[in-house]
Amino acid sequence: MMKHILYIVCLCLSFFYLSCSESASDLSVDKEIGYCRSQALKTLASIPSADSIPNSIDKDAGCWRYTSAGSWTCGFWPGILWYIYEASHDSTFMDAAEQVTDVILPKAYQKARSHDMGFMMMPSVGHAYRLTGNEKYKEALLSAADSLAVLYNPRVGTILSWPGMVRRENWPHNTIIDNMMNLELLFWAARHGGSRHLYDVAYQHARTTMEHHFRPDHSCYHVAVYDTIDGHFIKGVTHQGLSDESMWARGQAWAIYGFTVAYRETQQRDFLEVACQAADTFLSRLPADMIPYWDFDDTSTHPVPPRDASAAAVTASVLLELSQYAGADRGREYYAKAIDLLKRLSSSDYQARSACPAFLLHSVGHKPRGTEVDSSISYADYYYLEALLRLKTLQQGDRINGF
Ligand code: GLY
Repeated sequence: MMKHILYIVCLCLSFFYLSCSESASDLSVDKEIGYCRSQALKTLASIPSADSIPNSIDKDAGCWRYTSAGSWTCGFWPGILWYIYEASHDSTFMDAAEQVTDVILPKAYQKARSHDMGFMMMPSVGHAYRLTGNEKYKEALLSAADSLAVLYNPRVGTILSWPGMVRRENWPHNTIIDNMMNLELLFWAARHGGSRHLYDVAYQHARTTMEHHFRPDHSCYHVAVYDTIDGHFIKGVTHQGLSDESMWARGQAWAIYGFTVAYRETQQRDFLEVACQAADTFLSRLPADMIPYWDFDDTSTHPVPPRDASAAAVTASVLLELSQYAGADRGREYYAKAIDLLKRLSSSDYQARSACPAFLLHSVGHKPRGTEVDSSISYADYYYLEALLRLKTLQQGDRINGF
């Protein structure tokens, strides 16, 4: 009986995605994945050692700036290598992925300095475990999850994202929207032998964030500041956006992605609704060419604000997953928009091609600080590749699953 139901679900899904595939006709997923592979080979040929982790390429610079294990972005390059290995079965990529993942592994056993533990671990160690089943990766993920959960404050009901900002900014308990991305580590650990507490922390973090982090138009604050004594929400502010009330593009993308994962892991309908509302707001405010400005509220004209390809890539990836959950009409819309985003990112305006070994140009890391503005950045490449692989999965009639 169960087998029959599964068969019918798969048939319906195939039909749904095949009926959408016309809009994907001038995007060749295999060609774009092949492009990513050839760019990654260029990077592999140029990196000095496994502990020099490609991070970003400044506008017109042509070569990588490296980061090291422990930075919030250190997991994305190994994540790219794991994804290409998965797509190609080419052992060159597996060897390189293992080497750099092993450089990051010790960080799983250290005290979490911020919420970023999930960003560091899931794209690197998470894929390593998913693709190899090696127990050393599982152990590390369980340790990392315990370490992240220590930052949870039960009075507030969220994780303290940036302990370093408590004094510096006078934000007693701060939670950033990006933190939603790191709940996947906790959900994963709870499903793989970790304590039930990890699930509860992730669940409550998403609930509290849903309550306070969004404005009536479903755009989100970057930072929510809470009181440590009674846990009340004090204010919403920004750190990386244009202003406290603006919609920072990548933050909104993290919100869509984080709540989609929260829905996948908990089946709570209100998390799904939040993800859809955040997605609808993001999509309704995109410029005609689909790639958001770094902050949707930056209306300056001289010069025109930089685009953020990373926010587009994150959104393309999550819209494909969200299309599975959102019902027929919304699902079809999200699928079509994801393809529009991918087509635009795959054009000569956004692909790096011969300009540098990254996949994409035109992302923004930290505009207020003036760093990584109009750059290539590893996480833009990671989510672009993830989106392509997810599209391929759907076109084959399979479902997108998490780790
Ligand atoms: N903190 C992650 C980001 O810059 O999006």
